[in-house]
Amino acid sequence: MQWSRYIVAIIWVAGVRGYAQRPVTYQTDVAPILQSNCIECHRKGGIGPFPLTTYEEVAKRAKFIGKVTQSRYMPPFRADRNFQQYANERGLSEEEISTIQAWVTHGSPEGKRSRNKSVSIENDTVQGTSAADFLEWSMTKPYEIIGNEREDFRYFNIPTNLEKDVYVKAIEFKVGNRKVLHHSRLMTDTTRTMRGIDGMREDDPRVIEFQKTPLEEDFLYGWVPGNDRVNFPPGTAKRIRAGTDLLLNMHYAPSPIDETDQSGVRFYLTDSAQVEREVRTLTLTENDITNQPFVLPAESKPTFYMSYGPTQQAISLISVMPHMHFLGKKFRAFAITPGGELVPFVKIEDWDYAWQMTYQFKTLLHLPAGSTIIAEATYDNTSQNPENPSQPAREVTYGWNSTNEMMNLVLYYIPYKEGDETRSQER
Ligand code: HEC
Repeated sequence: MQWSRYIVAIIWVAGVRGYAQRPVTYQTDVAPILQSNCIECHRKGGIGPFPLTTYEEVAKRAKFIGKVTQSRYMPPFRADRNFQQYANERGLSEEEISTIQAWVTHGSPEGKRSRNKSVSIENDTVQGTSAADFLEWSMTKPYEIIGNEREDFRYFNIPTNLEKDVYVKAIEFKVGNRKVLHHSRLMTDTTRTMRGIDGMREDDPRVIEFQKTPLEEDFLYGWVPGNDRVNFPPGTAKRIRAGTDLLLNMHYAPSPIDETDQSGVRFYLTDSAQVEREVRTLTLTENDITNQPFVLPAESKPTFYMSYGPTQQAISLISVMPHMHFLGKKFRAFAITPGGELVPFVKIEDWDYAWQMTYQFKTLLHLPAGSTIIAEATYDNTSQNPENPSQPAREVTYGWNSTNEMMNLVLYYIPYKEGDETRSQER
């Protein structure tokens, strides 16, 4: 009796010690983290600069991976997840970050290789759709990017030729060439004034005229790598009007060799009878800035504020998209309800022009009537800012071009219905 207890105790201690000393290995601990969080982009043909799918590929960059994960530079997700939670968020937990740290510190061992470890990447599909349920348009012809190592900003117009209004339950961006397309902004226009602008450069003098156009949608969708689709909640849809032209504002990354791109847009349709509530867009823009004029003097770090409200009706917010250009540093947006409560939308402390996206709230956000929406954005227009496209810095004003600046807040919403605040948007 005594003896057997003693033996059990020894085995127990040995077990615990064994566990504590079990080295953190690539195969057992690190690979699963990378598979769920990195290889969507870091694989052959992905948009990441190198694949992270094998031990060899990962081990030779172990320190670098430790650094970019600890600083939360990777996976790319710029919104503060303590401020608000999103259905399309990315990020490692503290535990995952320390697992990678421990692995790097202990010499990044591989561990036992288990068989049948195939890595699969599946694209999630829009539920219950067949090819008949969507419409797709592409740029009217392939665009040729010249291999001169320079950034390239262009506008394209795609007429939809829609003869009647359609209801759209999801919008997907179809990237033509992931190697060169950096990001893209989708606008819609029903005035037809921008027909035939295919491939127009952003410094074309006509842009000044075009940006006065009252667009149907200033931001129907902002695409960045890994943010290929926005889904609207069941029973809701966005109406796209007959005769709509799609406008694409494309940012191509510098390329050493000639490339072509022919990207497109897909609208997943739903029957109007299924649509209880239409998705609307609220865009706060230059006019909503309270400390006008929107001028960023050279060598300054100004902050601008926006205020909108009090809102007329109770609404439920689906998503938020902040927008600035290269000089943007911080962005924060929230609402104050008539009862004095704060409703957080988005907080970005290290704005990155490359990773701007549509943040879809984890659950619909209820905004009671009488709320005030507030946004604040800080810019760095000094010559010390490495992101500054003008060296030395020069005075910058509002405009579409990447050398101008913008301050926008784009919100998708529907009229509020009881119970919305518990409706999850997670897929
Ligand atoms: C949505 C796509 C995406 C995901 C997910 C992603 N990366 Fe990246 N990664 C990129 C792109 C694009 C770059 C190059 C541009 C940049 O640095 O932003 C990059 C760059 C890097 C770099 C080089 C950074 C530098 O300064 O050159 C490392 C290291 C890296 N990623 C590791 C990771 C790790 C580890 C994960 C997962 C924890 C991850 N990435 C997830 C797209 C992604």
